[in-house]
Amino acid sequence: MGALFDFDLDYGNLKPVEMEITMKRGIILKPRVFITRKIPEDILTLIEEVCEVKVWPEEDTPIPRSVLEQEIREVDGLYCLLTETIDASLLDLGKNLKVVSNMAVGYNNIDIEAATQRNILVTNTPGVLTETTADLTFALLMMTARRMEESSQYLRQGHWKTWSPMLLAGQDIFGATLGIVGMGRIGEALVKRAKGFDMKIIYYNRTPKPELEESLGIEYRLLDELLQEADFVCILTPYTPETRNLIGKRELELMKPTSILINTARGGIVNEEDLYEALAQQQIYAAGLDVFDQEPLPTDHPLLTLTNCVALPHIGSATIKTRREMARLAAQNLLTYLQGQRPPHCVNPSVLTPKL
Ligand code: DGY
Repeated sequence: MGALFDFDLDYGNLKPVEMEITMKRGIILKPRVFITRKIPEDILTLIEEVCEVKVWPEEDTPIPRSVLEQEIREVDGLYCLLTETIDASLLDLGKNLKVVSNMAVGYNNIDIEAATQRNILVTNTPGVLTETTADLTFALLMMTARRMEESSQYLRQGHWKTWSPMLLAGQDIFGATLGIVGMGRIGEALVKRAKGFDMKIIYYNRTPKPELEESLGIEYRLLDELLQEADFVCILTPYTPETRNLIGKRELELMKPTSILINTARGGIVNEEDLYEALAQQQIYAAGLDVFDQEPLPTDHPLLTLTNCVALPHIGSATIKTRREMARLAAQNLLTYLQGQRPPHCVNPSVLTPKL
């Protein structure tokens, strides 16, 4: 086993989950795993050392649902991405399925309740993408405030004739008020960046975090208060039925005309039709979006007609190092469970046997 994992494989000492796999097949066989996209070769090799593996071999095309419906029937473990919808009807086909390892921190693509009811463990990859995603969130904030994309287009399209006092003038970042909606790991990492710009930081979270207020020097606000006060509103909350359309017409109307909305969490949290109207009417100043209700965002989407909207293709965690870390952690989650050990990041730990 390579040094990527901090546990040893031991076939001589079968653990409960392995034992179940072994008993079902009558002989000792490797657990079967399906991987829904091409992953780094060395990480694939590590999984292959322990499991019988099949991979959807494409890099840029998601696996068709019909293929996944076939593949899931045989496997003990599924390694998937946020592009796959893992719902009850798919899980029903996975008669041997024991674990779904999502290569993402967000798991709104998976029906957790259905997985739990079927005793299937779901794992995710928190932590390793925190700083990288905070970087991109702050980058989007800077791009929109200083109109960088619009300015670059202005230059490339030959409109730059002279320096001019108010040409492409945007909003200040230093000293402005940052409002963070969802104070989790990425929120905390964003605070560190904002501190370097002397920003005042307010936050809204379902559960206030007084200990962080003290240690980070941030202040709690109700959501409406935050929307009224912040110069930048950054959405970093998980996507759940409760947070769908959390930011719609009413909330956008509360924001200042000079304020900017940044969303690097999930598209459905912001109502895109209402956002389009608010941006087109210049009711808010700009938006920076890395995530959309429908991904990929259709190129004829109305938001793409606006110069005050910066749109990126869900690249929050996309650095080589971080994506490798996510792929490695997803593999570790999968393999530890198939070996009868407790994976580092379980979404529904209630399915674990008490011993784990
Ligand atoms: C996640 O992990 O949930 C991100 O959206 C992709 O990095």
